[in-house]
Amino acid sequence: MTDPTDAWELETRLVHAGTLRSEFGETSEALFLTQGHVYATAEECEARFKGEDPGFIYARFSNPTVAMFEARMAALEGAQAARATASGMAAVTAALLAQVRAGDHVLAARQLFGSCRFVIEDLLPRFGIASTLVDGRDLDEWREGLRPQTRVLFLESPTNPNLDLVDIEAVAAIARSAGASLVVDNVFATPLWQSPLALGADCVVYSATKHIDGQGRCLGGVILGSREFIEKNVHTFLRQTGPAMSPFNAWVLLKALETLPLRVRRQTRTAAAIADALAGHEAVRRLFYPGRPDHPQADLARRQMKAGSTLVAFEVAGGKAGAFAFMNRLRIVKISNNLGDAKSLITHPATTTHERFAPAVREAMGVTEGLVRLSVGLEHPDDLVADLLRALG
Ligand SMILES: Cc1ncc(COP(=O)(O)O)c(C=O)c1O
Repeated sequence: MTDPTDAWELETRLVHAGTLRSEFGETSEALFLTQGHVYATAEECEARFKGEDPGFIYARFSNPTVAMFEARMAALEGAQAARATASGMAAVTAALLAQVRAGDHVLAARQLFGSCRFVIEDLLPRFGIASTLVDGRDLDEWREGLRPQTRVLFLESPTNPNLDLVDIEAVAAIARSAGASLVVDNVFATPLWQSPLALGADCVVYSATKHIDGQGRCLGGVILGSREFIEKNVHTFLRQTGPAMSPFNAWVLLKALETLPLRVRRQTRTAAAIADALAGHEAVRRLFYPGRPDHPQADLARRQMKAGSTLVAFEVAGGKAGAFAFMNRLRIVKISNNLGDAKSLITHPATTTHERFAPAVREAMGVTEGLVRLSVGLEHPDDLVADLLRALG
């Protein structure tokens, strides 16, 4: 195995880190499409199961292609350990459930992706794990939400879909003061622009389905943290419950990591140009982009993020009808609820990702009827700006 060294820059790590070469010396990482492995002797098999021999056993908990993806993700994030899962939601659910038991309490930001909110608000309480939602931007609400039973704090930043920010360093300190851990869903920031572990979080989760794949092909998730955190909390949970990433998906995602910096840098530059072109347009009521000085938390963006975002959120005048008419007039930007793709995608959160919430709850989350969320792709920036301006009319 070629171990990454600290001396390597990000781009170099993303091409080489974690590579396992077979006896054939292939240049491109191999796809080990196998469920299991054979052992030379029964003694070797016994040693493998006892953990005395580090080889692979069974694809529910370890596979060479998945291991390469995990090692490369750990090198990217600066984490000691990583575990891959079948989807981003499998990663979020496992990262939370693996740490709690009946009687515990989980404290989370209200501004969350719909399925993450379902896990916190609906799923955990079914198993006797209480949960409280707070305004993620308000540190006093985080402090006041703590209980003696609080084990985990959970947040995403920037948030889906409004691109609100949560002060990760401050919330990590609050978690530490309560003896709880902090899990951060870093999907919107991408590993390039924000490093929650360096800001004091205990665990980072990704939907690899988004920028990590970056070409809309397959689902995946990943959980990262210290070796102790992953081994103590996450490894056994995944091994025994089975939300494993398929080796095929791991192979696609592993190869995609080679181009992640190129893609995300380009998408971020284009998103910033789009945000500048749309801000102040008479059909745009409000625009949210963490890289702009008019973002309500611009100082925090500068402090905890290395760059803006590949997403832009804005409210189109005319509420739902105005937003729908605008979306239907777009030619290059496609209507889709996904994000992080090479294709620019636009969604109307109130009728898609956040549809299951009552209107008042949606309003409290900032998901208004006119709000659209644009995920910027790899098309030429001029074509995208022209498409958006023409559709705004
Ligand atoms: C912020 C955030 N977290 C988690 C997920 C879930 O990821 P997946 O669709 O890979 O399960 C998504 C997906 O849209 C997301 O936007």
